[in-house]
Amino acid sequence: RRRMREVDDLPSEAKGASAAKREQPWWQRAVFYEITVSSFQDSDGDGKGDLPGLIQRLDYLEWLGVDALWLTPIYPSQMLDLGYDIDDYCAVHPMFGTLADFDRLLELLHARGMRLILDFVPNHTSDQHAWFRESRSSRSNPKRDWYVWADPAPNGGPPNNWLSRFGGSAWEWDDFTRQYYYHAFLREQPDLNWRNPDARAAIADALRFWLRRGVDGFRLDACAVLVEDEFLRDDPPDLEADEKTPPPQRLKRTFTDDTPETMSQLEELRRVVDEFADRVIAGEVQGDTDRIGHFYGNSSPRLHLPLNDALIDTPWDALSLQAAVYAYLKAVPEQGWPDWLIGGHDKLRMASKTGQAQARVLAMFLFTIKGTPFFYMGDELGMERVEIASNQVQDIFEKRVGGYGLNRDPERTPMRWDASEKAGFTTGEPWLPLGEGVAERNVATLRQDERSILWLYRTLIRLRRLEPALVAGDYTPLRSRDDVFAFLRSAEDATLLIALNLAPEARKYEGGWDGRLLVSTYLDRSGIALSGALALRPNEGVVVKLNR
Ligand code: NOJ
Ligand code: MG
Repeated sequence: RRRMREVDDLPSEAKGASAAKREQPWWQRAVFYEITVSSFQDSDGDGKGDLPGLIQRLDYLEWLGVDALWLTPIYPSQMLDLGYDIDDYCAVHPMFGTLADFDRLLELLHARGMRLILDFVPNHTSDQHAWFRESRSSRSNPKRDWYVWADPAPNGGPPNNWLSRFGGSAWEWDDFTRQYYYHAFLREQPDLNWRNPDARAAIADALRFWLRRGVDGFRLDACAVLVEDEFLRDDPPDLEADEKTPPPQRLKRTFTDDTPETMSQLEELRRVVDEFADRVIAGEVQGDTDRIGHFYGNSSPRLHLPLNDALIDTPWDALSLQAAVYAYLKAVPEQGWPDWLIGGHDKLRMASKTGQAQARVLAMFLFTIKGTPFFYMGDELGMERVEIASNQVQDIFEKRVGGYGLNRDPERTPMRWDASEKAGFTTGEPWLPLGEGVAERNVATLRQDERSILWLYRTLIRLRRLEPALVAGDYTPLRSRDDVFAFLRSAEDATLLIALNLAPEARKYEGGWDGRLLVSTYLDRSGIALSGALALRPNEGVVVKLNR
């Protein structure tokens, strides 16, 4: 912040030069690692991960080389939705530990030069939050207007046709006060009324509570859906939907998602976070890639990092990848910084889609493309979706909208630390099954094998430190040919060629390349000289430092 001021004080001709020399903010350089806290490390035998458990694993995280952690919600909660149903924004759920545990975690991370962002849920609380209990207690309660209440339609039914993402109408009847309240997600997750200034101020204070404790920023949950249409206009049908489409997705969310009013609220939230130096807002945004640009904001900034999950739905072939990268980078505005997610607590495990050999190529893409990389605990082990029997289902999304393949448990299963019976995760009964293949695919076993995917992650993360061109350098696409996706990253001191063979057969990438191999996804041959056309083995990606 101080540095910003100095720049602002300069005569305008000097600003450009000085800005160019300015160091990139930490969140543009950092590698982010998402942790589902209840599945990372249990310390007390209840089968669920907690903060003291996480603290026991900091050596591992430092060894891996990640710079910043993003934790799923740790607040008191009914835990109907992995903690995204918050009872109290300014406390820690006893299941995860105490506020003192949180402070200790943050202090230990900072001492290691690592950062922490918290998942924060501005759109809704749990129905057990004191605010909602007051709000529903009577129509004249001062907090009545903190939530979205509406009269029934003339026929007595819900005010309009809006659908909850988690099944059924988005309106829940309250018999006591004889109105409906709106919930974009579960009926147990009533939406806050972002038009109410007191509710907004309360959220801002909750953010400040954590910012003052030293948290480095937030991942804002569902922040594209804060403010709904004030006229409650009905949504149109989605004409592409058919009987295989989950019922909640059969209307287009025209009047609830991505509204102009929501965009101005993101600007307010940004102002709150900007009261503190050097913090970041990453945000979950809904919608198409070509809408991502406006989540950055222009003269009034919004999110630093609107999270980009385009890769997760992109078919894993060179031409689809080439198109997805082009579409996304084109949508990021001049002043915006890109980011890339390859997994998350709501996302299909990409290794299940790509297969193990290509999961290594994906890792090379993630750590060499321009933008901040985000990956999810277990991706570095090549974890795949874990089979969940119907009697083991925990995810309420699956329970309420079953039969459409929406279950998120397969990517939320516990981290595998070693080959022991409970994988070193707990001494009790894990809350979700550990899945197959733990004996081969766990941290301890893969750490012994210096050519494993785990070592590849570590090596690529280290490479970013050694080769600043990978972090700050320009990106130049090369034309994808014969299943090879390729590009250059270049800075003053180096030009790197990244060539990824997405095919399970050997390929040649034509060109008069002349350089030295830095890393192959096979983790061999480092340092060898290369010239002419680039010969790639099946499923091989390479980073080559070009001679100049
Ligand atoms: C998005 C979160 O990532 C997801 O896990 C949650 O169910 C919904 N928001 C509701 O908060
Ligand atoms: Mg525990």
